[in-house]
Formats: sequence, structure tokens, C-alpha cells
Amino acid sequence: MVMFAEALERLPHEPEPVHNSEYSERQGKLFSHFSSGDLFILPAPHEATHSNDVNYRYRTSSDFMYLTGWTEPEAVFVGRFDKESETWISSMFVQPKNTLMEIWEGRRPGLEGALANYPIDEAYSIDELREKLNDFLVDTKRVFLRTGVIDDIDDLVTQAIQRRDRNRQHFGSGPIGIEDPSPFLAELRLIKSSSEISQMRYAAQVSSLAHELAMRLQQPSLNERHLQSIIEGFFTYANCSGWSYPSIVGCGENATILHYRANNAPCKDGDVVLIDAGSEYRGYAADITRSWPVSGNFTEAQRSLYQIVLDSQKAAIEQCVAGNSYTAPHEAARRVLAQGLIDLGIIEQSLDDSLDLETGELRKWYMHNTSHWIGLDVHDVGIYKPDGNPRLLEPGMVLTIEPGLYFGAWRPDVDCPPKYADIGIRIEDDVLITENGPDVLTKDCPKEINELESIIGQGI
Ligand code: GLY
Ligand code: MN
Ligand code: MN
Repeated sequence: MVMFAEALERLPHEPEPVHNSEYSERQGKLFSHFSSGDLFILPAPHEATHSNDVNYRYRTSSDFMYLTGWTEPEAVFVGRFDKESETWISSMFVQPKNTLMEIWEGRRPGLEGALANYPIDEAYSIDELREKLNDFLVDTKRVFLRTGVIDDIDDLVTQAIQRRDRNRQHFGSGPIGIEDPSPFLAELRLIKSSSEISQMRYAAQVSSLAHELAMRLQQPSLNERHLQSIIEGFFTYANCSGWSYPSIVGCGENATILHYRANNAPCKDGDVVLIDAGSEYRGYAADITRSWPVSGNFTEAQRSLYQIVLDSQKAAIEQCVAGNSYTAPHEAARRVLAQGLIDLGIIEQSLDDSLDLETGELRKWYMHNTSHWIGLDVHDVGIYKPDGNPRLLEPGMVLTIEPGLYFGAWRPDVDCPPKYADIGIRIEDDVLITENGPDVLTKDCPKEINELESIIGQGI
């Protein structure tokens, strides 16, 4: 704890939370895509059972957080157009206060708390949902609802569409179809506001420091789980809700498994350990990978592969420039990786041949993409190729840059050069596109060879 407390002093203060005015603005932007006869319904997912009567830690949907900041379960957000005032009205259905339940589970904001502190015009009890939605549906033409989240709501809306009653016969009232609002929300979420960037920067700073702590506390006696506990322990200590995706901590051949999950093997002197771990702060994700030698010093083979991945990552980051295609970083990374493997004699094809997606040899050792959007989800929303054309990068977008090389000697599909057997290296940072070029949110996390070798196992 003393160690974590000392580390925490290196972090900046936590940012201001997103203000209600910004949530209202986001709602307004969403509603501007709808017409006056539309109804928007956003259900929060139910809690998920871990086992018997124990639930997983609740994490509401990213869309729910994005529009409301509300994080409690059993909630539904509704947007409807009020014909009299000619404005959109935001309502939220929430769990009402209940002393007995609160004694067991914790205090609830209730309707009063929802109305006072959240960006809504009306609050209702979740118990009134069916009745109120049926009222709202009478005057609705299109329902914007992502189906498959809460079956009861899907059924209620479907029944309203199928109803054949006098009102519909005489006045044509009632909904006629369901549409998915997700594309509108995804488009909004793709460009981060300055307040969102502050949350993401904090998640990135906590995660960078967590990786550095694991590097500094690295000893050959530690196993994968020990390293995981340092990193995730620090996430929590620094007031993050935990990880934004399950941590990947793999030593030796486990570093060559892209989404390795077991995290329970010993680390051997001579192994490279690959750690892909990021915190979640107020819903926002960080996503960092670092790879380093357990012994504190790279072998010659490890060093040469590491330098190639590092060079490719820097080349990719340089391409994170507004106006470039989102594929430019991937293309740059692949070229540097392929040329590096050609120079080492691992690939015997020409550069162009090695890059061919069908027959090129690079794919044997680098088989994933270099980037994904990141935000409230680690693999964030946002179409990569709207209308089939690669999207151009814009200020406010945040993407990861994560090239790697994976020489799994265990793989039956390739002949792994013995010199490089069981070396897995990935280097991943989170990059904000700005008017002035790339802003690496995770830049505090060490990645140069000399930095790593000077801090591994040195304590904090
Ligand atoms: N942590 C998963 C990824 O890097 O995409
Ligand atoms: Mn990633
Ligand atoms: Mn990652």
C-alpha cells in the first residue's frame, strides 16, 4: 500500500466528471436525427448472474452512460417529442427508493435523486414502465430501439406494432416499425469531447503507471498472476472501477497467444512477458500492451524483434494525422515489420510479396490489425468503412496502435525459426488525433529498450 500511495503521487488529480449540460447536448444531437413522431427507448441491460445468487459487478451499457451518466441497473431512458411544447422530453425509469433493499444492497438515488442530479426532465418508477410506454407508443410512428437487450420491452413494442384496434383503423395511430438507433450513437461517440478526453487521459495515465510498477517490481520468482495483481491492484487503488477488458499476462509461449486468458503460469528467466492491460475510469477504457524480459535484459533475438516492433509502432503513430485514412497506421506498421523480418532473414520474399494478404509471409507472424477505436468500449463503436470507403481520421478520434510479432514454437501451422522460439512482442498505445498531430495518451508508459532495461526489477 505504501508503494501504491507513493506511485499515486505521480498522477495528476482526477478530472472533473462530465457535466449534465454535456449529456443534454449529446441527447439533443441524437434527437436531431429523429422526427416528431419518433420514440427513442434505451434500456439498460439486466444484471448478469455469476453463480447462484451472486451477480457480476454491474456495468451498464456504454450508450446508457454516454447519454445519461447513470450507472445503476434496472433503468430505461426514453426520449419523446412533446407536440405542445415542440421539444424533446427526456425521461428515465429507475428503481424507486426502498429502505429494505437499500439496507442490503446500498443506497439508491431513486426518482428524486435521478431528477435532481441527472440530465432528464422526468423520472418514473421502473414499475410504471409498461403503462407509460404504452401511453407514449399511441402517438408514435417509428420506435428507435436496439432490440435484444430487454425482452419485455421488445415484446411490448412488437405488440404495439401488431395491435389492430379501432384507433389504428380510424386514425392510423400507433407505431409501424422499429429502427436501430446504434449507428447515430456510434457516430456521436466516435468523436470525443474535451471532457471525454480528460477521462480517457486519466485512465491512460493510471494504466501507464500500473505497467511501470509491474516492470519495476518484476522478479523471476513472480508468476503471471502476481504481475496481474500488481497492475489490477493499482487500477483500483487509483480509483478506477477495475479493468476495461480482462488483463492478458503471458510469459514465454503464452506471450504468443493474442488473447491469452489463463494468466496462471510461472515466468522463467529468459522469457519475455507480454502484458496487455488497461483500466476503466468512469466508463472510459485504456488499452496498453508492453513486453519486456523477465530477467531485465533482452537476449539478442528478443532485442532485434522488439526493436522492429517498436520501430513499426512509431511509424504507425506518425500516420495518426487528421486527413489520413484510418488504415494508414496499419499499412505503415506492416511495412516496417515485414522489412525487419526480411533483414533478419526470417522472411525470404520481397517486401511487396511479403505484404500480400493471401500469400505474404508477414501474416504468419503478424496476424491482427494495428488499430481499433477506443472510448467507452475498449473496442469502441464507429464504422471503419462507411459506404465501403476507409474513414479518414479526424480530431477527437482515439485509436490504439498495437503492432506485434508472435513466434509461437507450439504452432503446428508454421515453422518457427528456433532462434526466435516462443518470443511474443506487442507494443500498444492509445492515440488521440488532434489538429497538431498525434497525442499519445499513454506516452508515460516506458517502451524504449534502454528505459525498460534500466527499470525492470529495480523497485519503485
Ligand atoms: N486488449 C485487447 C486489444 O488490444 O485489442
Ligand atoms: Mn487494443
Ligand atoms: Mn490491448
